[in-house]
Amino acid sequence: MKATAVAPGKTILVGEHFVVYGEPAVVMAIDRHVHVTVEDRVDRSLAITSDLGVTGTFIDDAYTAVKGGEGGRRVLEPIKTAAETVLTAFEEARGLTITVHSTIPPAVGLGSSGAVAVATVSAVGRLMGRDLSADDVIALSTAAETVVHRTPSGIDQAIATYGGVLVYQKAQGIIRLPTASAIPLVIGNTGIQRNTGVLVEGVRGKHDRFPEIMRVLNAAANHVSRQFIDALTRDALPQLGELMDINQGLLMAIGVSHEALDRLVYAARASGALGAKLTGAGGGGCMIALTTLDDRDRVAAALQRAGGTPIIAQKAERGVHSWIHA
Ligand code: MEV
Repeated sequence: MKATAVAPGKTILVGEHFVVYGEPAVVMAIDRHVHVTVEDRVDRSLAITSDLGVTGTFIDDAYTAVKGGEGGRRVLEPIKTAAETVLTAFEEARGLTITVHSTIPPAVGLGSSGAVAVATVSAVGRLMGRDLSADDVIALSTAAETVVHRTPSGIDQAIATYGGVLVYQKAQGIIRLPTASAIPLVIGNTGIQRNTGVLVEGVRGKHDRFPEIMRVLNAAANHVSRQFIDALTRDALPQLGELMDINQGLLMAIGVSHEALDRLVYAARASGALGAKLTGAGGGGCMIALTTLDDRDRVAAALQRAGGTPIIAQKAERGVHSWIHA
């Protein structure tokens, strides 16, 4: 038997990093997707192929590289962990062939690893005939990501599961935010890959060394997100842009921006964007610029001239979905 799941990538509109400390963030699913197909095997191994050019086989913790060398293990380990987390949760032991195909650029803040975890959990659940709820998918995929590399807030897993636009806050959970706004964005990719866990740890260090200052910055981020949600319900684009600019200032203050990101942010603003900020973990990766629909191409051209790769992405309303192949 064979099952496939598809999950979208995301951009965080406001509130990344501060969300780890309990503040609200607003996140939008985008029309870039991860496809994961899982198939039963006769043996007990997990044989995984990623279209990043890596194939390998795990038998428990022993790894045999088939393509991409030993270094490929780093790419496949999170997929293995997500599959194992579901198998263990339902006390099943079975071998799987897993194939991952993605149109989300990896490691640049567009939610690729969250979407891979969510799609893997959903596909394995579907293959096992389990009807996993959205909460189950989020909990299992967040647990898997915690094992691999960090303490995620759960925001990437939530948006890949639900799609659309969400307000995410750790204590309150998820509020879906149906919005008529097209939220016209241009994403600028610096092409600099980075590790979310390392950046999250860097911010934790600032909390340890400067607790009073971080408390004030968290409170400011809380206001930014709340006013952003209010402006979004009114589709007040200029105000949304201004709040994104303020958010970028806070992200610079906590040390997660990067010279290449700042260059793209200033280029976007100079070419008429309503606001611009990094998106996701920062330290490289991507920024987003809010524009009017008419100005999108001009802002995209400015990002290209400033050395970035522009991506015009649309809101994706649909979250993860899965099916059994006939
Ligand atoms: C990563 O997309 C968002 C961060 O806030 C980390 C997290 O919330 O898990 C940087």
